[in-house]
Amino acid sequence: MSATKRPQHVAILLDGNGRWAENRRRDRTFGHLKGARVAKTMIETCAREGLTQLTLYAFSTENWLRPKAEVSFLMKLLGRHLRKERASLMKNNIRFSVIGEIHRLPDAVLVEVQRTIEETKNNTGMSLTFALSYGGRQELTEAVREIAREVAAGRLTPDQIDEKTISARLQSSFMPEPDLIIRTSGEYRLSNFMLWQAAYSELYITQTLWPDFTEEELAKALGQFNTRERRFGRTTAQVRQISIADLMRLTSPRQATV
Ligand code: FPP
Repeated sequence: MSATKRPQHVAILLDGNGRWAENRRRDRTFGHLKGARVAKTMIETCAREGLTQLTLYAFSTENWLRPKAEVSFLMKLLGRHLRKERASLMKNNIRFSVIGEIHRLPDAVLVEVQRTIEETKNNTGMSLTFALSYGGRQELTEAVREIAREVAAGRLTPDQIDEKTISARLQSSFMPEPDLIIRTSGEYRLSNFMLWQAAYSELYITQTLWPDFTEEELAKALGQFNTRERRFGRTTAQVRQISIADLMRLTSPRQATV
């Protein structure tokens, strides 16, 4: 009998809104509207499924380069979405946070972001993070800058720098690394998303465009995760031994200490 493995942290690169709309000879904004509705459904489904952390890559640092009208539409949509969905986040006990260069967001959106963080801060259920104006390289660059400052100030020596030093200075250090990264619309790349944290993430890539993404497809992604063997560089035999040892520790603490 194999137990169901659940990812603690699922991150989604929601992609394909524009193509979905263009396939219907509609403006790209029509795809974003539908995309935001699908995001709402997925957030509520993941909370109901008991996931610990859900991260949505909603706007990358590179997305600022899109046509002005599209960026402006997305920003308004984001602000409106947060304002409208705060009640649902409260009802579903979801805590909201953001990662990214949020000082670049328009003031009206920033206000909604800050209000949503503040209102939901004592919720104890799923943690929901929007990656907004986010780039993995920018996040790493900022962490390196911070480390350099600490070295310059004499609080840290170069020899003390290890992986934990870097992880702890990432903006996303408050969350576990993603166990499962889902990308829609069939693109096989990370597009500057969590470059450090994705080192051992399982990837699920589907051809489905984000506006067509359904609860069934989410269940399929979670099901696939359950069948993956995460070896973290070790051999299958080692991983299985570790699992048996873990199991023994869980079922019989005395046996495990011998
Ligand atoms: C990707 O599709 C989608 C985006 C860049 C923006 C997604 C953001 C929203 C829908 C705003 C609200 C966000 C949430 C999470 C409620 P694309 O435009 O890159 O599609 P394409 O690759 O087909 O052009």
